[in-house]
Amino acid sequence: MTFIITIDGPSGAGKGTLARALAHHYNLALLDTGLLYRCVGVKALQSGIALDNQLRLAQIAQTLHPEDLTRYDLRTHEASDASSRVAVFHDVREALLDFQREFAENPPAGFQGSILDGRDTGTVICPHARVKFYITAQVEIRAKRRFKELQARGIQSIYSVVLKDMKERDLRDSQRTEAPLRAAADALTLDTSMLSPEEVLKKAIAFVEMRRSTER
Ligand code: DC
Repeated sequence: MTFIITIDGPSGAGKGTLARALAHHYNLALLDTGLLYRCVGVKALQSGIALDNQLRLAQIAQTLHPEDLTRYDLRTHEASDASSRVAVFHDVREALLDFQREFAENPPAGFQGSILDGRDTGTVICPHARVKFYITAQVEIRAKRRFKELQARGIQSIYSVVLKDMKERDLRDSQRTEAPLRAAADALTLDTSMLSPEEVLKKAIAFVEMRRSTER
């Protein structure tokens, strides 16, 4: 069975940072699943498709290509907002499910397994993943991190707006009926509010090793 790690949690909690570090440490193929929803949102905006047109959004989701994930415009405010709006639709999520499972089960040659980060990777996409994490942090701290990240990318933004957007997205992501944001029962929850990326990685590696040793 493919070795799979999943990392769920709200945005700005440090999922991506941990995912990249673990991917490097264990030589795992990495999929940032949020990019799929961002692609659907951005493509819809670009083609003038309404963000509540489930049918057309699902068509976009069905025809995504891996190259779409490398678009330069997936991290803007508009992309963030659009992604969480399109993510509420069952047909969109269903269309993206196969892409994600295929990636998880069949990582490209040369990798020891796969790692997926996103809102529902441990609860819905890969419920049988060997190791699951739920990464969270206080919303103000997550907003500050996202604000700094946007600044570093040269994207103009205002902290209070980033915080407001994040609260709105948290609400939408956790209250939607389709795959709401929550921790899987067998996930290790880490609150990164007061932890450095190195401390988070250390705790995560200890958990992976513990899981592996109990399976041998
Ligand atoms: O992690 P992110 O900020 O790039 O995700 C963008 C949006 O996509 C987020 O608001 C919710 C949605 N999403 C999701 O519903 N399920 C996932 N596995 C990943 C992202």
